[in-house]
Amino acid sequence: MDLTDVSDDLANVLFTQSQIDDRLDEIAAEVDRDYDGKNVLLVGVLNGAVMVMADFSRRLRGHCEMDWMAISSYGAGTSSSGVVRILKDLNTNLLDRHVLVVEDIVDTGLTLAYLLENLRSRRPASLEVMAMFRKPEAAKNAVEVKYVGFDIPNEFVVGYGLDYAGKYRNLTGVGTLAPHVYS
Ligand code: IMP
Repeated sequence: MDLTDVSDDLANVLFTQSQIDDRLDEIAAEVDRDYDGKNVLLVGVLNGAVMVMADFSRRLRGHCEMDWMAISSYGAGTSSSGVVRILKDLNTNLLDRHVLVVEDIVDTGLTLAYLLENLRSRRPASLEVMAMFRKPEAAKNAVEVKYVGFDIPNEFVVGYGLDYAGKYRNLTGVGTLAPHVYS
C-alpha cells in the first residue's frame, strides 16, 4: 500500500519511503563504523519494528544477529504507563553481547525505559537504541536513543510499521491521520 492509496485518510505526508531509505543508509553506515567487528545483536520489538528491522539490517555491511520481543502495556489506558508485560521474550542470552534495540517510534519513551532496564539486568557488553521516529515527549523522560531516524512533531502517525487500530502498518511512507479516520 502506498501513500496515494490512502491519501483521503492522511492529513499530511511526513516522509516518503525514499526519504526513509536515504536516512537508513546514513544510520547503517554509522552503525557499521561503531560496531566494526562486533557481531551486533539487533533486538526488535514486535510488531511495529518489523519494517525498520528488515530495511535497516539489510543495509549493514557487517554481520549481525536478530532477535525479537513482544510486549504489551499493562492496563487499559490509552496513554503509555511504561509498565510492560513481556508476551514473548528473547531466545538469546544477552550476557556480554553488544545489543542494539531497534524501535519504530519513541513517544513518551516510557516503554523503552522499562525495556532497557530489563535488558540491562541481563548484563550485555553494551546496550544502545536505534529508533526510526522520535516525538518531543521523549526528551522529558531522558531516555537515550543513540541513533534517531527523524524527530517528528507530537502527532499520531501511521505507516512503515506504525498502525492505527491494526491498519496502515503496510503503508510505505509515513503520514498523520486525518481526523475523520479516528473521530
Ligand atoms: P511510549 O511508551 O509512549 O514511547 O510508546 C511507544 C509505543 O506507542 C510505540 O512503540 C508504538 O507502538 C506506540 N505509538 C506511539 N506513538 C505512535 C504513533 O504516532 N503512531 C503509532 N503508534 C504509536
